[in-house]
Amino acid sequence: MIALGCDHGGYELKQEIIKHLQERGIEFKDYGCDSLESVDYPVYAKKVANVVASGECEKGILICGTGIGISIAANKVKGIRAALCTDCFMAEATRLHNNANILALGGRVVGPGLALKIVDTFLDTEFSNDERHIRRIGMIE
Ligand code: RB5
Repeated sequence: MIALGCDHGGYELKQEIIKHLQERGIEFKDYGCDSLESVDYPVYAKKVANVVASGECEKGILICGTGIGISIAANKVKGIRAALCTDCFMAEATRLHNNANILALGGRVVGPGLALKIVDTFLDTEFSNDERHIRRIGMIE
């Protein structure tokens, strides 16, 4: 189960991601927001971060205008490793090396075509399980 959240700056991209996940048959829960009306991104960051940290959802995807504010907020929740990615190399590396459990995207930064490729890379790449990466993640926690 994938948890989705956004603010108004990420709303349109979230709609594209929802269509894409539906086409791929991937289950998701949408934690808002639900329109282009201005809202506060920390609210949605916390909702998604909490369900990922608790294990209720396996991974999360958060989107704001830049992806910056929403990833900063999500990373305040213990156990969350939210990674802001602007390309597929970053998405692959953060899964392999950081075992990132939330992908953050900037709805005003990446176009929908690239964003969906980043989503696929993030969701389809398993953690490497390398000892050095496990050690480093442990040092963060
Ligand atoms: C909202 O205007 C904007 O500040 C927000 O979407 C995000 O980019 C914050 O980091």
